[in-house]
Amino acid sequence: MLDVREASLQVGIVGAGLMGCGIAQILVQAGVQVYLYDTDVQIASKGSERIFAMLQKLLSKQKITAAQLQSAHSKLKTAAQLEELADCDLLIEAIVEDLSCKQALFVKLEQLVNKNCILATNTSSLSVSAIAAQCQYPQRVAGYHFFSPVPLMKLVEVIAAPLTEQWVIQALLELARRVGHSPVIAKDTPGFIVNHAGRGLGTEALRILSENVATEVDIDRILRDAGRFRMGAFELLDLVGLDVSHPVMESIYKQYYFEPRFRPSPITHQRLVAGLLGRKTGQGFFTYDASGKVQLPKETQVKTDDVPPIWLSKKNPEAAESVSAWLQKMDVTIEQGEQPSPQAICLLLPLGQDCATLAWQEKLDPARCIALDCLALTGRRTLMRNLLTEDKVVQKALGLFSSDGTPVTLINDSAGLVLQRVLALIINIACDMAQQAIAKPEDIDLAVTLGLGYPRGPFAWGDHIGGKRILQILHNLQAFYGDPRYRPSPWLTRRASLGLSLLTPEPPSFNIGE
Ligand code: NAI
Repeated sequence: MLDVREASLQVGIVGAGLMGCGIAQILVQAGVQVYLYDTDVQIASKGSERIFAMLQKLLSKQKITAAQLQSAHSKLKTAAQLEELADCDLLIEAIVEDLSCKQALFVKLEQLVNKNCILATNTSSLSVSAIAAQCQYPQRVAGYHFFSPVPLMKLVEVIAAPLTEQWVIQALLELARRVGHSPVIAKDTPGFIVNHAGRGLGTEALRILSENVATEVDIDRILRDAGRFRMGAFELLDLVGLDVSHPVMESIYKQYYFEPRFRPSPITHQRLVAGLLGRKTGQGFFTYDASGKVQLPKETQVKTDDVPPIWLSKKNPEAAESVSAWLQKMDVTIEQGEQPSPQAICLLLPLGQDCATLAWQEKLDPARCIALDCLALTGRRTLMRNLLTEDKVVQKALGLFSSDGTPVTLINDSAGLVLQRVLALIINIACDMAQQAIAKPEDIDLAVTLGLGYPRGPFAWGDHIGGKRILQILHNLQAFYGDPRYRPSPWLTRRASLGLSLLTPEPPSFNIGE
């Protein structure tokens, strides 16, 4: 119905704050006529000045030409009255995040515009359905969730409420592509894609911390160096601030009726109350100096000259193969016998188990057992001791596994170590989103890489590690903790059982699509 590629396309933006201005900027840069409105006229005109300043900056950096600047300039108009938006083909609302304000605005907008005008909301946490419910034509209402800063964050979530018509979704997808963004479609559900898929990292890192498995510094180092996350979980919590992130964790948990996968931690509640918000207060999980530089403890190097023979558990043959290839390269004697010799270190390669349980299952002397995370062999290795592992075994293992220059982190006993737990949670949550048809797996992967900056999307990551291994980690975690938090999603279970890629869609009739 609406062809957003038309040169005559007119878009009204209501709310000229951070988001409204960002959206206006990318639209005018793509040649779309934009009307920018704010209840406060001063804010709208300041907003348009800010956009022009941004465009000037782009020109000075030679990111755009003078002609492009001129064209963008001519496409931006501020509107003093809401009525000036009456002829628009699309209105994008970016006002305060308050349901009753947004509902009242949408009722008003409907009276102004023609029946074919799309009404979109940039809400990040409110129900699009609840906003649409106040409208006479809820079929033309959708979510259009951009991320900050809009010109740099190339993702946009197009949110379909139950009554939203397909042409509306199509037009919003097409417009996002016209401005050079990558759109994904999501059902109207709490957190949409990004804020839903992002629940695993922080909550699991907090659980690991709460169990005294490792410090925040060590957990973040493992996530960054071995997991290749751009930021550690605690670094991210400090950046966003607990005043923002703790309420979001609670809100998503409540909106999903206390789904254990999203369970927040009392740690963040306590710290929030204590005012340890993060960077903004100079003290969060980490301490920051006056210039904002984080203060971190130095890592200690352990060296060892004589390495005893290593007896390698065969419970995880795939990992045993790659670890034994590395040990051979390092000229370490690998014991092949069924039982370790009295002088050997017993190296365990758990998938979702802890060191104590594995030592007991394999009838090994726990004092000589130490575990290695087989999902994290490069970047940084994780070694895990049990309560009885002798210090000399720990020292020898630390020395050996860091002898090629790879840093090693020692943690206390934990079913699933650190990286396995976090990755299994992230992948499982994404699988369950696909199972609920909240979004297509490819869209979830795209949203997670662009919106959260993870090095891989959860489905691509799951396929890389292997669905069967992720399933095994979750089964073992669930058996160990007896916590439904770790119950595998049917999406994962079925695909892993059949040896299929986690990206394998449901039969077509159950797919949501463009
Ligand atoms: P902001 O506070 O910077 O701007 C909101 C603007 O709306 C203000 O200029 C205010 O004067 C204006 N306003 C309030 N009521 C109005 C009304 N009835 N009619 C017209 N203008 C009105 O807020 P921001 O950060 O730009 O957020 C806007 C929306 O975008 C919110 O729904 C927010 O949740 C969402 N969002 C924000 C993100 C962020 O990082 N700040 C990211 C993604 C979405």
